[in-house]
Order: sequence, then C-alpha cells, then structure tokens
Amino acid sequence: MCGIVGYVGPRQAAPILLDGLRRLEYRGYDSAGLAIQGARGIEIVRAVGKLENLTRAVEGAKLDGSSGIGHTRWATHGRPSEPNAHPHLVGDVAVVHNGIIENHLELKRELAADGATFSSDTDTEIVAHLVARARARTPSLFLAVRAALERVRGAYALAIVSGAEPGKIVVAKSASPLVIGLGDGEVLCGSDVPALLSYTRRMLFLEEGEMAELSASGVRIETLAGESVAREAKRIDWSPVQAEKDGYKHFMLKEIFEQPRAIADTLRGRISLEQAELVDGELGFDAKVAQGIERVVLLACGTSYHAALAGRYWIEQLSRVPAQAELASEVRYREPVFTKKDLVIAVSQSGETADTLAAVRSAREAGARLLAVANVLDSAIPRAADGSLYTHAGPEIGVASTKCFTAQLAALFMVAVHLGRRRGSLAEPRARELLRGLLEVPAAMRHALDRKDTVYEVARRWQHARHMLFLGRGLGFPIALEGALKLKEISYAHAEGYAAGEMKHGPIALIDEEMPVVVIAPHDAQYEKTLGNLQEVRARDGRVISVVTDGDEQAARLSEHVLEVPALPELLLPLVTVIPLQLLAYFIAELKGTDVDQPRNLAKTVTVE
Ligand code: G6P
Repeated sequence: MCGIVGYVGPRQAAPILLDGLRRLEYRGYDSAGLAIQGARGIEIVRAVGKLENLTRAVEGAKLDGSSGIGHTRWATHGRPSEPNAHPHLVGDVAVVHNGIIENHLELKRELAADGATFSSDTDTEIVAHLVARARARTPSLFLAVRAALERVRGAYALAIVSGAEPGKIVVAKSASPLVIGLGDGEVLCGSDVPALLSYTRRMLFLEEGEMAELSASGVRIETLAGESVAREAKRIDWSPVQAEKDGYKHFMLKEIFEQPRAIADTLRGRISLEQAELVDGELGFDAKVAQGIERVVLLACGTSYHAALAGRYWIEQLSRVPAQAELASEVRYREPVFTKKDLVIAVSQSGETADTLAAVRSAREAGARLLAVANVLDSAIPRAADGSLYTHAGPEIGVASTKCFTAQLAALFMVAVHLGRRRGSLAEPRARELLRGLLEVPAAMRHALDRKDTVYEVARRWQHARHMLFLGRGLGFPIALEGALKLKEISYAHAEGYAAGEMKHGPIALIDEEMPVVVIAPHDAQYEKTLGNLQEVRARDGRVISVVTDGDEQAARLSEHVLEVPALPELLLPLVTVIPLQLLAYFIAELKGTDVDQPRNLAKTVTVE
C-alpha cells in the first residue's frame, strides 16, 4: 500500500505534492519522491525514509514547475532504497504506482530480451518501460498508457507524466483507489481524499478499469477500452482527520475493514490454480530442501504467535511434518535445540520484534533453514532469514493487529500448501481445491464484515462485563486466544482464551450468569464436540455468544447470541471466524471510550526484551 498524488494548475507543484504526501503518510513511509514538469523537462527528487527527508531534498533542488506527481512508498517489491523509490523514470516518462503488478516477472524478462535495462527491483519500473516504448509509437501519452496497460495484470493506481506533454497527467485505476480533485483552474489526484482536501472538496472517484487525462482546464475520463465516461463530481464534507481514516472513527476499524483487500494483495500473483502450487521461488527452498525438512518450528510473539499456532495445524495436516509453534520470548532463554533439518518460520508483522529476532538468531547459529513471514520489507527478521514470504497488508497503524494477523494466516496457509506439494503429501486436486477456497476468502470476509451491526448489539449488551472466556477447538483454539487478546488489549477487560477441551480442567469453575463465554463453533470436524462445551456452559447458567456457520440453528438454540460467518472449506475458517471477535473487541472498547488505536501501555513494535 503506497500513496500517490498529482497536481496540475497555475501554482508551483512541489509544495502542494509534498503537502498531499504528508496526508498520505499513513499509507506508507519507507521512502518518497516527486517528479516535476517544468521548463527544464522532468526533474525527479527521491529520498529514503520519512517524508521529512524528501522535503529537505526538495528544498535543496530548487524545483520549478506547475505540474507533477509524487509518491510515498510502502515497499512490496524491492527493499526501501533510493533507486526503488518512485517516481520511476524511463526516457521522458515518469510513473508513480500504488498496487502490485502480477505479471511483472514475465514482462521484465520480455523487456530485458528486447534490450531494456532496469535501475530498480520494483514491479512499477516495468510500467514505465512499457509506456515509454508505447509512447514512441503513439501520438499521445494517454494512448500510450492505454496500450501499455493492455499488457499489465494486477492492481494499480497510476499517475504518469511525460516530458513531451507538459501540463498533463494520465491516471489509471484497477483495484487500488484513485480520486481526482477539481479545484479552481487546477486539478489534483491522489490515492485518497485527505491528500486533496486542503485544495478542494469537489471529487471524482475513478472506477475499475478507467483512466483519465488531467490538465488545468479539466478532466477527460475513458474506460481502458476507450469508451468515454461522464461522471458527476461529489462534494466531500469530511474533516482532514476523518478523511485519513476513510471516514472510520479509528484506524483499527478501518484496518478491520481493509482485510479483504489485505488478503487479496497477499495472494495476488502467488497462486497458480493450474499447477495447484505457489507461483514463485520467494520461499527460498526447493523440493529437495522441502523433503529434507524433519521438523518445522514457528517462532513469534503476541498476535503473530496466534497466527503461528494456526500455521502449525496447517503444516502438520498438509505436509505431514512435525510442527510446533513457540513463543519467541520463551525460546530465546531456553537453550533450545535446533538442527540443520529444521525449517524455522519466524512470523512478525513488524519484522523487528527483539525476542523473535533473538530466537531466529539462535536457530540460525544451529544451522536451521529460516523463512520469515513479515509485513515490512527488508526489516531485520527477513534480513536474517534465507527466504521471506511477505504479507501485503500495507502499514498497520492501530496497535492491536488485525489485518496483519489475517494476512499472516493467508501466508502461512500458502507455506503449508507449498510444503505439502513439494513433499508429495498433498495431492494436486486437494491442493487446487484448497487454493481455490483461499481465493474465496476476501469475498467471505466481506460477508462477515457486513454483519457488524449484530456484533455491535452483542457489544452493547456485554460492554460492562469484567471477564470473558473464549473457547475453541482445533483451528478455533488460536482464534479463541486471539479474540481474548484483542479484547484485553483495547478494552482492558479481563479475557482468557482456552482450548475448549480444557474447559473441564479449570475454567468451568468460573462460569456463572455473569460470565459471557464466546465459543468458536463453525461447521468443522470438531463441531459436535464444541456443541458439547456449549451445552456445558449453558447448564451452568453461563451466557453463550457463539460464532457459527451461516444458518446453524442447532448452535443458535443453545446460544444467547449468535455471530454468523460464511461457510468456507474447513481449514480456512479461522480467516473468517476471527472477524466478529475483532469487531466485538473494537465495539466494546469504543463503547467504553478507551484509546482504541493507542491502548495504554502497549506499543506497536516491541524492540526491547
Ligand atoms: C506487539 C504488538 C502486537 C504484535 C506483537 C508482535 O505486542 O502490539 O500487535 O502482535 O508485538 O509483533 P510482530 O511485529 O513481531 O508481529
């Protein structure tokens, strides 16, 4: 997830672009850049790190021009560095991009065979090459962009300028957001409303498969197929702060609702249904290595540990390798035994957690093979690993992790399928069915999110509960732990997650009419047994909130409240059962009025022991 901006009009473009980028920094902040069109042609300034570094570089560059584009980056392809920062310039064409070009490897090979040379590791530079080449054959940048996009598959919001056509910006959209702002004799564009709000409140929203040409005199919109589009501008009344959160009250709620996109981006370009396999070699191990693995150890802390627990179930089931999930903060002080036959998977959204990094280093010293699952490109843990599978959730601002958690689940599921295929324990038809199910997850998540009002009612009923118990079996167990952790983190209520089978060994003593018990009971292999727990809670006057598959009347009869999630292949249920629990924690915290995005005493990235 990155942020893009563009400006064309009578004023100096650079300060306006920098101001827009500042409003979009929540979308990415590892590097940034500008391209200004002026009398000297196109001038590019880029800088690694926070936007203030770019601001300083721009001050020194004395840019002069009244149109241009800008970008703030959250790296997905190519580490954060100046060559990888946008805009990418090829010939006199400069490009900024938010999204992921799925077929970039294929296009890169083709362009290289045709003599192209590359100055970055990004997927975006491919677009710059394609447009520059098409520009040489077509009379306008607009038509060149259209021709180039015929070759491109994936997600993009693009803003493109050419030195040959000053005062013009061409934009295009597929799956990533793009807004156009209509000012007085000036036109702006950006990834999101906040970038434009200080200049205008009249906005045009581009739709899927549309492109537009912006100039000081106005906007022309067409589809990628060349049909013209008439679109009315809308007036936006949000405050700039509301706009950064897309109208949501908190980043956490916005991030909960971003999950379908985070998962789609994490899967994008990585799955081949035809081969029932993962597409590329990102994982850093081939069939020979996969067959030599004798044990998988997943290391993580906090929410990432819950993803690791689910990963363990999947890896065991699909690849038949013994697997265990370990709290990194425990492992590092335990004189753990790792061997060269271990595959160690470190799961960390930040890629910087000190305990996880320390545990990874001890595994490394023992010669174990290391795979990182992280959300921040080129962070310390991926750097210490042999291979990385990045989640593409974009920056997560809320301290309580939501979209990074489900993106980690999606990534670990892919690892399990990959291992199963490479070790020969997962047959092609079954792998295909599972991967097809995985691709359905974003849509299923949308349905789960649509039921937010029901969750809100439950939150209202139980907002004053001092304790809450969360129970689940099998893959429901890590979700029970995660549901309890979310509630603790942001609402400060005491909550415990328990394996439902352990209920009789202790927690059953806590149950009375004051005690809401959340039971994760979707239709899975353990369903009947979980219903047994549900009955035991009821028999002791406990209040049951059950998370069930759509239309489950049996569980509904035994529950005080029912939170329904759509049906999915059994192994994938954690990706949807967690959603009502995230919402429950959020709404309870919100009703209590706690500081949801920055709960007391917690930090997003824990770089101390
Ligand atoms: C902190 C964060 C959690 C996170 C944990 C592990 O406690 O508040 O949201 O799950 O660290 O962080 P990591 O970056 O390694 O996933």
